[in-house]
Amino acid sequence: MARRKIVAGNWKMNMTPSEAVELVKTLAPLVESDDVDVVYGVPAIDIVPVVEAVKGSKVAVAAENMYFEDKGAYTGEIAPAMLVDAGVKYVILGHSERRDYFKETSEDINKKVLKAFEYGLTPIMCCGESLEQREQGITMDWIRQQVKVGFQNVTADQAKTAVIAYEPIWAIGTGKTATSEQAEEVCKGIRECIAEIYDEATAEAIRIQYGGSVNAGNAAELFAMPDIDGGLVGGASLKADFGKIVNYK
Ligand code: PGA
Repeated sequence: MARRKIVAGNWKMNMTPSEAVELVKTLAPLVESDDVDVVYGVPAIDIVPVVEAVKGSKVAVAAENMYFEDKGAYTGEIAPAMLVDAGVKYVILGHSERRDYFKETSEDINKKVLKAFEYGLTPIMCCGESLEQREQGITMDWIRQQVKVGFQNVTADQAKTAVIAYEPIWAIGTGKTATSEQAEEVCKGIRECIAEIYDEATAEAIRIQYGGSVNAGNAAELFAMPDIDGGLVGGASLKADFGKIVNYK
C-alpha cells in the first residue's frame, strides 16, 4: 500500500494566540487536500485556539514538544494528557533546536517517544546531521544512532504509525536545501535502519519526512523521491506558501 504523504508545519517560537488564529484562517482555503495529511505544529500556548480554529477541517495539530512524565512537579513542562485533552494528535520530538539549545539527548527523546505512544499521540521524531558531520562522512552513522536510540522499546506496530523527520541541521532556516538526491539517500538509509530493527513491513509503513528549507519551489521534487513521504516545514509554514507545499503536485 502506498504511504500517504504528510506535510507538517513547524511554527517554532512564532505566532501569538491571536496571530495563530489569523494564520489558520488565511491558510484554511489553501491547505485543502484529500491526498495529504496536513499538520500544524504550534507553540503550546497556541494549541487550544488552533485546535478550535481548525475544527471542521482535515488539519491536525501537533505540539512542538512534550515532557516524558505523566504529571507532577515539573514546572513549565507540558504533560502528554494535556495535549490529548486539548485535541492534539501529533507531537514533534527531538527537533535539532531542542537537542542543541535545550540539551535533549536521544535517551530523553526515546522516553518522550514511548510516552507519546502510551497516550495515543503520533510522534514526529526528528534527526539530522550537522555540516561538520556531513563533511566527516559520518552522516548515516549518526542518524542510525539517533533512530536506534529514539526507537528503543518501541514495538513494530507502534513504529508503523510513527513519523521520522530527517532534517539536516545545515539546511534548517538557511535557505540551503539538501538536494533531492541527498535527502533521498538519507531517508532511504533511515528506512533500511527501520527494516533492520523491525522488518520490511514496518519499514514500508513508517513515514519519513524531509525538513530543511522546504518551500513552494522545491517541495514537488523532494516529495517525488521514493523514500520521502512529505515534509516538516519551518519558515514557509507561516506563509501562504504552505498551501502550495501541501498541494505540491
Ligand atoms: P525551515 O525549518 O523550513 O525553516 O528550514 C525546518 C524545521 O526546522 O523544521
